[in-house]
Amino acid sequence: VAGVTEGLGAAYDDLVARLDAAMVVVTAADGDERDGCLVGFHSQMGLDPRRYVVWLSVANRTYRIAQRATHLAVHAIDADQHDLAEHLGGLTGDDVDKLADLEWSPGPGGVPLLAELPARLVGRIVVAVDAEADHVGFVLDPVEVVVAGGGDPLRLTQATDITAGHPVERERDV
Ligand SMILES: Cc1cc2nc3c(=O)[nH]c(=O)nc-3n(C[C@H](O)[C@H](O)[C@H](O)COP(=O)(O)O)c2cc1C
Repeated sequence: VAGVTEGLGAAYDDLVARLDAAMVVVTAADGDERDGCLVGFHSQMGLDPRRYVVWLSVANRTYRIAQRATHLAVHAIDADQHDLAEHLGGLTGDDVDKLADLEWSPGPGGVPLLAELPARLVGRIVVAVDAEADHVGFVLDPVEVVVAGGGDPLRLTQATDITAGHPVERERDV
């Protein structure tokens, strides 16, 4: 059986591609700085109370800001918004202000709410989960949810042509 021992990585990639998660855009602000990036690692993780988790790469500027933030916004992004996905996932806020040319308004805790992506969840950060992997989970308590527009999500397999603005690494400043 492919992937039981050798070839596990390739089989893992195949299974993940078959599940083909919807992509989202996560934004964060800490009072002074703000940023956002394309995210594929996210899910529901509790029903009562409702909890949502997003996993941010420790290499990303969005992660560094999230560490100091009280809230994060999780925006749905549609298949016909690939250009916006490329802007937010292919560039890093360490080089350019990705939000400069986007229309946004401050939400709870100042978190940027992107006008182009009206369907979103804003959550209060309950805890950060550090499993010593290259991503850290931010567990969110939903405080605001908007369901609007679209509904044909951009899928992982439609976004793998985008080269991440920050290569994943474990190196970190904590
Ligand atoms: C298909 C795809 C999936 C991604 N998934 C995640 C993710 O789950 N978590 C994350 O932190 N970054 C993810 N990224 C990478 C960031 O979007 C990218 O490195 C971005 O440039 C970071 O920007 P920043 O440094 O301004 O935060 C993904 C990128 C792509 C192309």
